[in-house]
Amino acid sequence: MICPKCHFDNPADTSSCGKCGEHLFLSNKVPRSKTETILAPKPELSVGTTFAGRYRIIEELGRGGMGKVYKVVDSEIKESMALKLLNPEIAVDKSTLDRFRNELKFARKITHKNVCRMYDLNKEKENYYITMEYMPGEDLKSSLRRAGRISVGKAIFIAKQVCEGLAEAHRLGVVHRDLKPQNIMIDKKGNAHILDFGIARSLKAKGITVTGTMIGTPDYMSPEQVEAEEIDQRSDIYALGVILYEMLTGTLPFEGNTPLSIAVKQKTEKPPNPRDLNPKISEELSQVILRCMTKEKNRRYQKAEHLLTDLENIDKGLPTTDKFLPEIEFKKATTRKHLVPWALLFIAVITITGYLFYDKVLRGGQKEQENSAMIAEPIAEENSVSASQSGFMEINSIPEGAGVYIDNKYEGITPIKHGILPGTYRIRIKKDPEYEEISDEIEVKTRETSSKNYVLSAAYFLEVKTVPEGADVRIDGNYKGKTPIKVELPKRTCRLKIEKGGEWSNIDESLTLNPGINSFERSLRRITHSLSIKTDPPGAGVSIGGEPIGITPVKKMDLFGNYYIKIEKKGYETIEEPINVEADTEKTYDLIKLENKVGKIILKVHPYANVFLDGKLIGEVPPTIIQEVKEGKHTIEFVSQKLSKKITVELEINGEETKEIRMNMKSGKKEILKLNSEQ
Ligand SMILES: Nc1ncnc2c1ncn2[C@@H]1O[C@H](COP(=O)(O)OP(=O)(O)OP(=O)(O)O)[C@@H](O)[C@H]1O
Ligand SMILES: [Mg+2]
Repeated sequence: MICPKCHFDNPADTSSCGKCGEHLFLSNKVPRSKTETILAPKPELSVGTTFAGRYRIIEELGRGGMGKVYKVVDSEIKESMALKLLNPEIAVDKSTLDRFRNELKFARKITHKNVCRMYDLNKEKENYYITMEYMPGEDLKSSLRRAGRISVGKAIFIAKQVCEGLAEAHRLGVVHRDLKPQNIMIDKKGNAHILDFGIARSLKAKGITVTGTMIGTPDYMSPEQVEAEEIDQRSDIYALGVILYEMLTGTLPFEGNTPLSIAVKQKTEKPPNPRDLNPKISEELSQVILRCMTKEKNRRYQKAEHLLTDLENIDKGLPTTDKFLPEIEFKKATTRKHLVPWALLFIAVITITGYLFYDKVLRGGQKEQENSAMIAEPIAEENSVSASQSGFMEINSIPEGAGVYIDNKYEGITPIKHGILPGTYRIRIKKDPEYEEISDEIEVKTRETSSKNYVLSAAYFLEVKTVPEGADVRIDGNYKGKTPIKVELPKRTCRLKIEKGGEWSNIDESLTLNPGINSFERSLRRITHSLSIKTDPPGAGVSIGGEPIGITPVKKMDLFGNYYIKIEKKGYETIEEPINVEADTEKTYDLIKLENKVGKIILKVHPYANVFLDGKLIGEVPPTIIQEVKEGKHTIEFVSQKLSKKITVELEINGEETKEIRMNMKSGKKEILKLNSEQ
């Protein structure tokens, strides 16, 4: 086995290179273009039967490495869908199923016109199956097999759509990991739809496992996938580069006798310049392809949007004759109720034999048409509305690419031109979610073209999420509600303010939005501060909000707002006060020493008064007030509102003595008695 790194020829079945130690891939048993699984009997479903009590099997659509795919009709919701019945060996491993479920959860979130919708993973008896949107058309691989290489215009047209689908998926964090032409469906209008999002990742390992089992097709595999390294959206961009290469040259950049030799080339070999194979490829386009396929992922396009921009620019520069324009299609008689009168007339005129002819030939023809992609051949028009009876409906929009619904039925994207029977139709133009929807009516007359041109106005949505939730959201000063919240905005720019009380940091930002949904997610920062308390002298006990926090000097972290602080030290006056901590705070308190000597005053008053001691109300008399006071001079005021009288007495307490004041408020007569300390 040749080492991919140093090219040393190792004996077969060696797991690492004898010269440089590089890991070697062991098995060559991997089939091309199929997702490899271990062989086991594969379940089958018969056409016409009902599976899981719900899905009527219409036809087999194809088979891949993981199982068979059927077109079914869901009898519950009366809709066609595709059902992939998984081979049993995939379903035996619980962790694979868990991964599947998890991946589908994400993949299901992708709603985009170029991505096939994934629905569900379910189990019927022992069989697991996945349901997804049914995509009529032909997969790109089959189209390429038939058509060989395709024109530059068509290839760009398809690649741009794949890019758009990828961009949306990547925006939602979903990487395809198995992008290949087999997983791109081309419908009859030439539009591309990516299949199987979220499936490849679920399979155990990526790239080549130690046992030599390969997951995914080596033809489109990025070097990092070959290495089974952690991969991201840039691997999908690599795969799209290979697909572009194949569409434009009709060959794959790397070919080999075994899948493993191809995988190794993805890692080590430079792709031949696509321009050497097809001179119609411009230098610019060839650079775009080679940039997608750069081995070093940091040097590739980092995002699908960037690739899209370059493709759009190349597309704009193409001569008109080379540009690919989606086919202008006549409406089919069998698909619309407005066409029934004509169909009835047709049926009335033909004989039974004619009817059988219609059923066999025309309807058969239609089915084929439904399943064939338009990139290879233009659509056959056998059963179109006769041009002599029809009028035309032409709908354009700026920007192009808006979905057009005629009488609520999806008809394609703008620009669109249909042959249609005369009448008045309701039309809706929708380019979700970036533009506002338009509803209108259009009247079509025989052999006339009715045109409508719309300029779509952008819709801006802002989704605001915060951790924790429940923050107030204001946009341009107007209160909108609490997070999480989604609001529609009338314009592109806005000022967003988020507030969740003083404990949390506010957000105030000016935003410029993109049309569509814009996500704004932030974790709010909790604001806390420290409080340091010192006392002179130190050693006082401190409590905050009733909780002891320590002895001074003391520091408490994680505070915000108003607290009640208490500082106590024996022999000193207790301090109790509110404190506000809205910044880091440091405070020093001078403790006031309690005097050793405390005297007492006894106050007896008649008939009634409020008593103030040194300016502070200490009570009312009668009954008698007994008050401890510090040694020294004190002012006592007796106030009687009833008598409109205030009598002030200056009193000196020496040592621990007790003095009694007897006061008659009416006469103003007072008596001061000096008692001994026991009294
Ligand atoms: N949602 C769908 N709608 C219509 N046809 C589909 C759908 N999904 C798959 N098919 C058809 O079934 C075929 C087999 O698909 P499947 O995904 O099983 O195999 P694959 O993509 O070739 O290989 P792999 O198993 O590696 O993905 C496709 O090529 C396509 O023609
Ligand atoms: Mg597939």
